[in-house]
Amino acid sequence: MKATELLREQHREIERLFQSVQAAEDEAEKAAAFRELAAMIANHSALETEIFYPAAMEAQILTDEVREAEEEHAAVDFTLYRLFQVQPEDETFQARVMVLEELFTRHVEDREETLLSQVETSMGDTRLEEIGEQLKARMQVLQRRGNVEGMLAQRIGSEIARRPARRARTVQEKPARRAPVKAKKAPARKPSTKPTARTMPRSQRANAANKTTRGRKPARSSR
Ligand SMILES: [Fe+2]
Repeated sequence: MKATELLREQHREIERLFQSVQAAEDEAEKAAAFRELAAMIANHSALETEIFYPAAMEAQILTDEVREAEEEHAAVDFTLYRLFQVQPEDETFQARVMVLEELFTRHVEDREETLLSQVETSMGDTRLEEIGEQLKARMQVLQRRGNVEGMLAQRIGSEIARRPARRARTVQEKPARRAPVKAKKAPARKPSTKPTARTMPRSQRANAANKTTRGRKPARSSR
């Protein structure tokens, strides 16, 4: 089976499992449907991020979109992990299922239309079959392993653990600090050429005084 066919099939299966969770008539049925859904999503995420996306990157197919798809899976994994922290009877369970379904639906709509179609057009059938076999083999291992919550915790944990290393590298690569630039001295103020009361001839001084007091109420006579 071609890799893209297998992934499309898994998308349909996950959509059906979301419906089963929503249609469950009691808490026990909901919990069982959720366990099945969670396992399917976690395993599907692993297949795409561990095998399919690296193969698309290697073939240089829509690399920006592959990066986006990886981010979508990280968001799906985290929301799914948070769902394990609440019981189906808890108020937040339904809210988290809705968010998970929205994230997954968007992933399916975006990636099937572009990335999967482009991979189908660009990669030969032989290569697609080869990747399909790898996906099937990995799926069997993951299904035998179980412990979905533990697998999600490990993935999220390793993502967090990678952060300090990245931060350290960024600090190291930072260019050396440049010497502080000395503040420029403000240019000396040019002396004003406008005549002041002190430099003005006596005759002009009276006129200037009249101009400034024009319109003002006359000062009271001291007499
Ligand atoms: Fe997918």
